[in-house]
Amino acid sequence: MQIKPTRPMTLLAILMTLSLTLAACGSSDATADSGLSDIAADDATGNDTLPDLDGAIPDLSPRDAEDITDMVQADGKDASQDEASDLPPDATPDVSMDVAPDVQPPACIGTPGTAVWPTDVSTTFIRGPFVQDVRDSHAFIVFRPAQPLPQQGCATWTIEGVSSAVPVVACVDPDAFGQYAVRLDELPPDTEITYSVFVGQTLTAGPFAFRSAPSLQQPQRILMMSDLHANPERTQTILSKIVSQGLAAGVDFAMTVGDHIDQAEEGQYDDLFDGLRPLLHRIPLFATIGNHDSRSDSYFEAFVLPEADPPDPAAPELYYSFRRGNTWIGVLEIIDWQLSWTFGEPLGQAVWLEKELDSPAARSARWRLLFIHQPPWAKNWAPCDPDHPMYGEESLRDMLVPLAAKKGVSALFSGHFHDYEHGTMDGVELFVLGGAGGGLEVSCPAPEGLPQPWTEKIVHHSLTVDTGCDALTVVATDIEGTEIDRVSIPYAGK
Ligand SMILES: [Fe+2]
Ligand SMILES: [Fe+2]
Repeated sequence: MQIKPTRPMTLLAILMTLSLTLAACGSSDATADSGLSDIAADDATGNDTLPDLDGAIPDLSPRDAEDITDMVQADGKDASQDEASDLPPDATPDVSMDVAPDVQPPACIGTPGTAVWPTDVSTTFIRGPFVQDVRDSHAFIVFRPAQPLPQQGCATWTIEGVSSAVPVVACVDPDAFGQYAVRLDELPPDTEITYSVFVGQTLTAGPFAFRSAPSLQQPQRILMMSDLHANPERTQTILSKIVSQGLAAGVDFAMTVGDHIDQAEEGQYDDLFDGLRPLLHRIPLFATIGNHDSRSDSYFEAFVLPEADPPDPAAPELYYSFRRGNTWIGVLEIIDWQLSWTFGEPLGQAVWLEKELDSPAARSARWRLLFIHQPPWAKNWAPCDPDHPMYGEESLRDMLVPLAAKKGVSALFSGHFHDYEHGTMDGVELFVLGGAGGGLEVSCPAPEGLPQPWTEKIVHHSLTVDTGCDALTVVATDIEGTEIDRVSIPYAGK
């Protein structure tokens, strides 16, 4: 939730803005001010039209490319600086997985999805209260009145098993959007926290409860959804069913993979949080940015997310990683991958990710999962126009998937295409799960090179993913509750 008055643009972003402007100039709907916020040409169905960047990057001299590389590498940190002070004693930090494949993660203890969540809601606030960034020993409680108020907003909470005559109380000022984010610290692991919030005498909500972050050994059950493209009709007919299924499944946290809304406007994010209300009263959501989220202040304001180390200078929450239970998660954004592919070497986020995958937090995890809105592979999208095909991102096929395979990533989750798709590339399971609200695709002919076998189900759906001790189990379920696919990835012992 980092908002700056003016978000500085890196040289990379300037180049990409220029390239997208050039790309848009050739199309009939080009606008004079095309830029990063205009990647998506939105339409009423919420479908995406990310421009193909092939040939759109301006010619640069070798010196230009060298300067960019130097700048990005200067931003990177030495892998030896990575420390995970909270690793269990039997974790063996090692930053050279390629030469030490026998490194074992800590013991795996527990069963995912054992929480029992109620479904009652409070509508006192237009957003929330919802729990965010629940990891390590902290959490945030976030809430926003319908109109900004001058006074502070407060949260009170009690910790399961800790007797206290008076609940803990913390109050904060509203931010520029009138939103409150109260941070809770020093929470014991895997413990029920009961909380309420209030602003003044009349605006109150709660009590609700959530669980603090698990120990590093624990499996997790994750609800995954993408391309919600929230509006009141979609949240009522589609998202509400996904939310109910997630609560009934006892999920531990949720991941989204972009395109939360059609247009990055405050009112549409209000619709989003209204639809997610019963879920986010109780479990945290970690968001991935999509092209419709448009790198907007509204997106970055909406969520409290981890930040990369070092953070992207344009937006600290643009990409990030975190460890939760027995699983390491990396959340990515597309632009650096397209630039890296264009220049033929890792830039920005690509440099950062390789170091993160070598960190003790990632190396000691039983499962490593990646999230990026645009997929490496997909079948063409509606209306299957052969003159403007879209089969996924070549930059990701050439750079991200090989890196993921080399570093032991089990699965990569994407959206952007409004259906369910699954296949395997270089031993990495690729999932497309863009079926949480936007208009559905149609079945198109498979492109040359698409991994085989390849599964496609054109229905609204979500995933539950169990990061079990013996297997990573991915279950795709449509909004009527019918299982449409199940993929089990055995734990390979590294
Ligand atoms: Fe979408
Ligand atoms: Fe998209």
